Amino acid sequence: MIIAIDGPAASGKGTLGKRLAQHYGYRHLDTGVIYRAVAHALLRQGADLRDEARAVKAALELEPETLADPALKSHEAGEAASVVSAIPKVREVLVDFQRAFAAGPPGAVLDGRDIGTVICPGADVKIFVVADPEVRARRRAAEVRSRGEEADEAKILADILARDERDQNRPVAPLKPAKDAYLLDNSKLDIEAGVRAAIDIVEAVRAGRRRV
Ligand code: DC
Repeated sequence: MIIAIDGPAASGKGTLGKRLAQHYGYRHLDTGVIYRAVAHALLRQGADLRDEARAVKAALELEPETLADPALKSHEAGEAASVVSAIPKVREVLVDFQRAFAAGPPGAVLDGRDIGTVICPGADVKIFVVADPEVRARRRAAEVRSRGEEADEAKILADILARDERDQNRPVAPLKPAKDAYLLDNSKLDIEAGVRAAIDIVEAVRAGRRRV
């Protein structure tokens, strides 16, 4: 089974993806990390994030082992990733890696922006996670602080809104729910309640009780 989870920045989709994968014994791929790694490579080279040739080269040379680098988790890496991910050729290069990951046994959960629409349009279950921007900014600030870094919540909120705008309006693979995605608003849910709601969706779809 393939479970696709999409949603905007800091919506909690990554945690949901990880927890669903644990629950079902599936593999998990946070696809945002791939774009973060490409952006990180460009930043390290001091290159422009809009430099298509360099970005494509970084995507082609991406080593899966580097995806665990904690530096990729930073707020800045996420912002930079949003810029490089708008380059169509970069996305093209990364499609096969994601599809191969999704296809392997025993099943997989992928989270990102375009999993249900472009990468795995035939996914068995699609969930589109949303949360109010203020709630997402508060959660992201808490996450940054938990790493011992300082967080300016107002700036994070402004960045999140700008990122939503960029991710939703790019011409290729924009952030949007697939027609058959089930919407999960976790603004008022804590992590455990969100995980339960997601498992309920998967179970209902599996049992054929819910046509999404
Ligand atoms: O989910 P995240 O914050 O790690 O994603 C970082 C950026 O990467 C996001 O703003 C847009 C891009 N991204 C994408 O374009 N497609 C994906 N499937 C995942 C992330």
